[in-house]
Amino acid sequence: MLDTLIGTDIYYAAKLLAQGEAVAIPTETVYGLGCNAFDYNAVKNVFNVKGRPKNNPLIVHCYDINTVGNIAAEVPDLAYKLFERFSPGPMSIILPKVNHIPDIITAGNETVAIRIPSHPTTRQLLAMLPFPVAAPSANKFMSVSPTSALHVYKQLNGLIPYILDGGESDNGIESTVVKIEHDVIKVLRQGSITIEELQEINERVAIAEPNQKSESPGLFKKHYSPNTLVVLSTDNTIDIDYKNAALLTFGEDQESHKYKVVINLSPTGNMKEAAKNLYKYLYDLDALNLKCIVAKLLPETGLGMAINDKLKRAATHL
Ligand code: TXA
Ligand code: MG
Repeated sequence: MLDTLIGTDIYYAAKLLAQGEAVAIPTETVYGLGCNAFDYNAVKNVFNVKGRPKNNPLIVHCYDINTVGNIAAEVPDLAYKLFERFSPGPMSIILPKVNHIPDIITAGNETVAIRIPSHPTTRQLLAMLPFPVAAPSANKFMSVSPTSALHVYKQLNGLIPYILDGGESDNGIESTVVKIEHDVIKVLRQGSITIEELQEINERVAIAEPNQKSESPGLFKKHYSPNTLVVLSTDNTIDIDYKNAALLTFGEDQESHKYKVVINLSPTGNMKEAAKNLYKYLYDLDALNLKCIVAKLLPETGLGMAINDKLKRAATHL
């Protein structure tokens, strides 16, 4: 395929999607690799472009709560409350699917993940289309999710025709993926909506253990990994050559003088800023071809929990 184009033409993106092509789309979390959720071949192509195993289902993106009814067979009260509170926004809810959602989207499951994104460009696009858009993050399988058109280009140039540029993603980490089990909100993937925010809607919130593949195949232990080795600062099993290492840190740091490069996710200790910078800095650091990136974990509250979860997976060397 020819070089991938980057542009801001929503009509062109809509036309390509309607023709069954894969198009990268901006969202408030990370960029997605979108396709027509009802077109089997278009969905299959997205799996191929990403190099993603078919047992890992995709999130279906739709315009509003009314269109959720075309995708979900049933919306329990608690799911409805979550949509009302957090949508449009970074919340993906697993619900029973209607029959005409192709099996390839759900990896053969009877459930489908649904999200109503808030990015204005993608909302305009969704409003224009007669079908919902299935979209995984627009990166190669297991690598770092893109938060800008350029990140997508670095990973997928030549593999897709168009990247719809909507600027940098505001949140910088993925949506929170939840499932409703009776009166419990079960978090299958931590993300932009924090556990504390979920607890404001429903007291009982549980976090799924990593690698419970049967529940959410995307919860692989290794994920979000740049090419450069990532090591947690608490890991003392690996000898670090500081002259060839970068420190990815947060807040005040006393150790930073030892390293060749230091990047601070948020010098003032702001977790929202840290989330926005996380993947961007991993891309930046990866481009330096150092021996390793030493990552310091954040305090385990609020967005810090989700950021730490991503850092731990980036540092899993399987
Ligand atoms: O923020 C986001 O969610 C981004 C943007 C583009 O919307 N999308 C994204 O998609 O991160 P992806 O495919 O990279 O991750 C989707 C996650 C995976 O962990 C997948 O296993 C899980 O959601 N998932 C999707 N459908 C599921 C289902 N039916 N049951 C359980 N888990 C599901
Ligand atoms: Mg992903």
